[in-house]
Amino acid sequence: MQLLEERILTDGNILGENILKVDNFLTHQVDYRLMKAIGKMFAQKYAEAGITKVATIEASGIAPAVYAAEAMDVPMIFAKKHKNITMTEGILTAEVYSFTKQVTSTVSIAGKFLSKEDKVLIIDDFLANGQAAKGLIEIIGQAGAQVVGVGIVIEKSFQDGRRLIEDMGIEVTSLARIKNFENGNLNFLEADA
Ligand code: G4P
Repeated sequence: MQLLEERILTDGNILGENILKVDNFLTHQVDYRLMKAIGKMFAQKYAEAGITKVATIEASGIAPAVYAAEAMDVPMIFAKKHKNITMTEGILTAEVYSFTKQVTSTVSIAGKFLSKEDKVLIIDDFLANGQAAKGLIEIIGQAGAQVVGVGIVIEKSFQDGRRLIEDMGIEVTSLARIKNFENGNLNFLEADA
């Protein structure tokens, strides 16, 4: 997605070996116009797939996910990282290990929001090692619903996430694919949309 790649080049900052900081349009301050365009792109790609729900994990997945849901006119569900006192029954959970943060968290969705009839599109801001997407796939599977695809805003293609998801037989659609970071610059692979 050209608009997104241009924005990454203008506003992204490379931190250390392999972290891209995009806090002025995606992970902290949110550019709703760009998110809306991203949502439309995912909706176009999955227009014929019969998607009934969009799912993500809090926090930074929520902005692109909600615009994808708007463009497809379906509800968006975000998995919670902390148990909420109002979540009392029928909770579906998965353990998600973050290689970046070196912590395991339990993510959860109330079972009443997913059913066997649902066809779910997962959306997330970053795909690195794929652990967040894997956790969501597990939760959606527990509900007997179908994961139709995983839509990613920024994929770090030099990490293993894409392979992990594709090995489960699930399509990955990434709007920007980073091949590598090199001397303070970044190189893209051809994006999926
Ligand atoms: P994984 O889910 O693909 O396995 O990713 P990993 O454990 O490596 O990353 C954990 C967190 O770090 C995720 O956010 C992920 O989005 C984020 N992350 C990974 N690589 C980058 C990067 O290069 N830049 C930025 N900005 N974030 C990155 P999270 O813990 O779910 O955080 P949040 O969504 O609550 O902010």
